[in-house]
Amino acid sequence: MIDIDNFHLTSKAFKRYIFNEHPEDLLELIKPRMKEKRYLHSLSVADVAVSLARSHHLDVRKAYLAGILHDITKSLSIDEHRVYFLYYDRDKIDVPEPIMHSYSAKYYIKEKLNLYDGDILEAIYHHTDGASNTRLTKILYIADKREPLRGIHDQILDRAYHDLDRAYEELKEDVKEYLKRNERSRISSEDIR
Ligand SMILES: [Fe+2]
Repeated sequence: MIDIDNFHLTSKAFKRYIFNEHPEDLLELIKPRMKEKRYLHSLSVADVAVSLARSHHLDVRKAYLAGILHDITKSLSIDEHRVYFLYYDRDKIDVPEPIMHSYSAKYYIKEKLNLYDGDILEAIYHHTDGASNTRLTKILYIADKREPLRGIHDQILDRAYHDLDRAYEELKEDVKEYLKRNERSRISSEDIR
């Protein structure tokens, strides 16, 4: 398999073959782009996303691709993210660094992989902000935050198998609370200094 920077040079037929028949072959391209922990997380997200998609009768291939690709730009520098935003998405230039990768991934995936599937790109774009209501977005958002390697055990993932909407809303609330708590502890530790 060639590397990710040259994948766009392959024929349309080859890309179609990979995306439709053998998406798991993309792992060879993705692995060198990620630290081991991030790679294992991506595999685990893909696993959970596939089983959620299966139980909701959604396209498991799209769920798998969204899972393995969602953090593909996580290791880019702030300036590298911003190059994409300058060209394609100026509103995102000043977003906090930890969420930049979800937006830049959309453009990176189009550019490097020539993958233009709207459902997959939408889910990846919103996997940190939860600002979309497509079913694939909900699945990816939940899979990302409750894949087993994160070690968080609550009722949200179980619930997602039978009530995706409620699980998604509960998880977004949970994330909001977590961020609020973190912000409070950051401010109070600054006060102490
Ligand atoms: Fe992730």
